[in-house]
Amino acid sequence: MVKDKLILALDVDGRDEALRVVNQLKGSISIFKVGLQLFTREGPEIIRLVQEAGANVFLDAKYHDIPNTVANAGRMATRLGVYMFNVHAMGGYEMMAMTVEATRKMAEELGVRRPIILGVTILTSIDQKMLGREMGIGRNMEDEIAHLASLAKKAGLDGVVASPKEIGIIRKACGQDFIILTPGIRPDWAGKDDQRRTMTPGEAVQSGANFLVVGRPILQAADPLKAANKILEEMEKAS
Ligand code: C5P
Repeated sequence: MVKDKLILALDVDGRDEALRVVNQLKGSISIFKVGLQLFTREGPEIIRLVQEAGANVFLDAKYHDIPNTVANAGRMATRLGVYMFNVHAMGGYEMMAMTVEATRKMAEELGVRRPIILGVTILTSIDQKMLGREMGIGRNMEDEIAHLASLAKKAGLDGVVASPKEIGIIRKACGQDFIILTPGIRPDWAGKDDQRRTMTPGEAVQSGANFLVVGRPILQAADPLKAANKILEEMEKAS
């Protein structure tokens, strides 16, 4: 169902606004992304509140630390009952593998489903020049992304976060059974904001994205519910 493929980015300052949005949209959208802005303000309580409203949470914390620390953060995310969370693939194979194993164990102990764990390859804010000059990585961007996605898969992660334009190279490197979640979605009728390499919801679904993350085209629409339903319609038509 396309309804389970659309994720709304709750990029708002506080719980009142977040819950207003969740309650307004939860009939159409079932997963809400809590990122660093909202989580830093409200803490884990916001996750409980969104869940209490009847929705699932994608905790976009992009963990990146030593294996033991990230694995333990993953255990705590599992305790919070998040539907999915993510880690930086740059943290390395051991960090990712330990996190998968620790969350699996914690989920088993609690008798709950293990959260989906996604890897972040190269942030879309980083371009080829920065990759070489600042990060000191000589490979070209596409090869580096394919390399990190493959590493994430080998470590047992369920998928990756990627720009819609990277879907093809990741599918080629990691196959069909690997989740690809894409932000950078812009319907024809919405402004681009600061996103550059965008795709429409229909194009992203056609390209094989499993989940689409959308923020401002819905949050800043005059009628957010209408905007969400329009995007879902577009996704439905394309699938
Ligand atoms: O408002 P907009 O639709 O651009 O929001 C996209 C969401 O996806 C934001 O929360 C943004 O931080 C996140 N994101 C992104 N590009 C990435 C990774 C995450 O836009 N590469």
